[in-house]
Formats: sequence, structure tokens, C-alpha cells
Amino acid sequence: MKIAVIGAGYVGLTTSCVLADKGSTVTCIDNDQSKLEKLAKGQVPFFEPGLQEVLDRTLANNKLTFTDQTVSAVKEADVVFIAVGTPPKATGEPDLTYLKTAIDDLASGITSYKTIVTKSTVPLGTNEWIHETLLENADPALFDVVSNPEFLKEGTALYDTVNPDRVVIGAKSARGASVVKELFAFTNAPVYETTLTGAEMIKYASNVFLAVKISFINEIASICDAFHVNVKEVAEGIGADPRIGPAFLRSGLGYGGSCLPKDLSALLYSAAGKQVDAHLLPSAAKVNDQQVNRYTAKLEEDLGILKQKRIAVWGLSFKPDTDDTRHSPAILLILSLIEKGAEVLAFDPLVKEVEGIVSQHDLYESVKEADALILATEWAVFNSVDWNRVRSLMKGNIVLDARNVLNHRTVTEAGLTYRAIGSGR
Ligand code: UGA
Repeated sequence: MKIAVIGAGYVGLTTSCVLADKGSTVTCIDNDQSKLEKLAKGQVPFFEPGLQEVLDRTLANNKLTFTDQTVSAVKEADVVFIAVGTPPKATGEPDLTYLKTAIDDLASGITSYKTIVTKSTVPLGTNEWIHETLLENADPALFDVVSNPEFLKEGTALYDTVNPDRVVIGAKSARGASVVKELFAFTNAPVYETTLTGAEMIKYASNVFLAVKISFINEIASICDAFHVNVKEVAEGIGADPRIGPAFLRSGLGYGGSCLPKDLSALLYSAAGKQVDAHLLPSAAKVNDQQVNRYTAKLEEDLGILKQKRIAVWGLSFKPDTDDTRHSPAILLILSLIEKGAEVLAFDPLVKEVEGIVSQHDLYESVKEADALILATEWAVFNSVDWNRVRSLMKGNIVLDARNVLNHRTVTEAGLTYRAIGSGR
């Protein structure tokens, strides 16, 4: 099949690479010239494990090309994926500027039958709007609109795309649905079919459920802390019940990234637009917003006021194995420490600089003369730290494990004082 993918972000580029690797001829479209230049040279414009190899292979096989010419790429294609960003406005409403431009551009390319597949996360009702808008410009016999939300996670984008848990297909016609089913048949994943808006809702409800689950365990962690209960043991104990499940029960600084916070706000915005009162979801967001304060308060229990205290912070990305810093709780934490007058020395294995915060070259460099160390993002490298060396470099001895991942005993044996929320002590 000939495929056009509009958008070369995490979703668009990964989808392009995987479909090209599975034998389709793919043209990936983006309007960012610097990104296109990198891609044409075979460089992945962001860090995503394994993607480079697939890009190299598909370029070498002439299965994947890049362009900024939407109309001609669409004209050639049997299937057109829309994978543009839908970033939030200040109100929480998703900004559909890129999506609307993509629809305008692709409409004039519908000169033969195409399946138009939306991968972008879009507000409830958007795919119906796409269908109506295309009807104004194209013959209804020449296209089907399909909503096919994406569930890949940054850091495992490639694996998730090749091995998805499920394929969700929202469609108005069996024809459009069958094209998408065939395209993803290689995954052997179960297919869930619904309406256009139903598929949009499955996407939002999935991400929002994950956000609620994280805020739930974070609230439980705070209560555990007051009673000296270990929240990790609680997460394991409740996660053993298949109705609850063990995933996404890691307590800590809270959820960040470009998706969970954005999608929760977007769903609330949609609900408010229909005068639906939401109670649980705003509370989940509120719990998340409070996590940084909980950790700075925890630090103040040991250090008193943070003014002129030197704090080392490990981790800048919103989670490990990515260089993405969008809505990173680690950065919110650092900004809060700076606001309280602390001096922060940060270290991240991948992120070099963000919002004026510069990563030290080496993690040991960051702890020199520090009064306290906070682990803010749980990169694997922090599990094999020489704690004796850390102790000898630090001025103080507080290690605040804001992701509940360190081995309490190893840290303590080096003469450091281990702190966490819900460590059981
Ligand atoms: C999320 C979803 O997990 C994907 O399924 C979805 O496709 C994607 O959004 C999207 O909509 O594009 P992602 O934003 O890459 O993926 O990151 P997650 O792995 O979900 O992590 C989100 C945040 O939750 C991170 O800050 C992470 O540190 C935090 N988290 C995760 C916890 O605090 N505790 C946990 O137990 C799990």
C-alpha cells in the first residue's frame, strides 16, 4: 500500500518507519525544514531507542521518503495518516491549528479513493468534523475517515507500535475500517471497533485513567507516610488483584509529559462544553499539582528553610529513556527550589539544558558540596551509583528519593540519610 503520514513527531515518524519496514511505501510529511533536513540525512530528530536502525533500513530500501509537499504526497497515497500535534492552549483546550491546516491541505489531494486515518489525539467530535469538512470539498465515494488512536509510550515507541495491546478503530464505514485492520494485521493485536467519537473517547479515557491511577497511589503514599507504611508493598499487594493490576502504581513526583496532563485538561474542557460536571478528574489533576510541594516540604523537614542550600537534582526529562522535558515534574521541582532561594545543580544522562537549567557533565559533579540530593527522574544509571563516593562529595547527607526507586539499605550503609514519601520508616 502507498501511505502518506502527515507529521514527523513521535507518533508520525514511528508509524512511518514501522509501516515502511513492514513493506508499505511511505511518504512522511512535515513543514519543519530543519527536521526534514535531519531526516533526509537519516537522523532521528529526537531520542527514541531503536528508531535509528529502522529509519536506516527503510531509507536504504527506498521504502520511506520525506517531503513538505502535502497535496502531491496525498494524491499518490491509498491511506493518509494524520499525526500532527494538538498542543494545549492556556485554557486546556487543544489547539487544532496544525490539524486544520492538514485537513485543508489534504482535501485537494483527494482525487482517487483514500482512507484518511486520524492518529493525533483530538477532542471528542473532531473526526466527525473532519468527515463533514472533507465532504464539502471531496466526493463522498472517494474517502473514508477512520479514527485510530495511538497508545505508544515515549521511550518504547517502536516496541509499542510493533506490539500494541490493541488496535482501536472508529469508523463510519466497513471499508475504511477494513483498510486499517489490514494495515495493522501484522501486530496480531485484538481490534476494537467503535464509532469515530467512541475511538476518541477510548484514547482520552485510557490516558486519563492512567493519570488517575498515579494520583491515587500518590495520595495513598502520603497517607502511608503518616503511618510509616511502605507504599511499594501496598502497590504490590493491591496490584496482585487483576481488577486493579500492578502497572502505573509507582508513586513519586507525579505524572508529566506531553500527554497525560494535556489529555486530562482536554477531556475536562470537552465535558465543560457540554455542561457535564466532573469531580474525580479535577481532583486527580490537583493531587498531581501538589506533588512537588509535598517533596519540597519533605526536604524542609530536614533542612529547614531552603534559602542558600545547595541541592543536587538527578533527572530532568519527564521520565527515563527520553530527552523530552515537556511538563517534567523534575523541572517543576527545580523551579520551586530556585524560587525558595536554593542553589540547584542538576544532572541528566540525556538532557543537556532546559529552561536555563544546565546538566552537569557527570552525576558526581552535581553532588559536590550539596546539602541534599533529590532523585527526580528514575534513570537506570542511578541504580548503580557509588554511594560512598556521593557521600564523600556531599556536604550534607540527605538523599530524597522522589521516585521511590533506590535501595534504602545501600544508601544508608554509605552514611547517607534516606528519605522518601511512603518508605515505611
Ligand atoms: C502516555 C501513555 O502511557 C501512552 O499510552 C500514550 O500513547 C501517550 O501518553 C500519548 O498519549 O501519546 P507517555 O506520555 O510517553 O505515554 O508516558 P508514560 O509512560 O505514560 O508516563 C507518563 C508520566 O507518568 C511520566 O511522568 C511518568 O514518570 C509518570 N508515571 C508513570 C508515574 O509517576 N508512575 C507510574 O507508575 C507510571
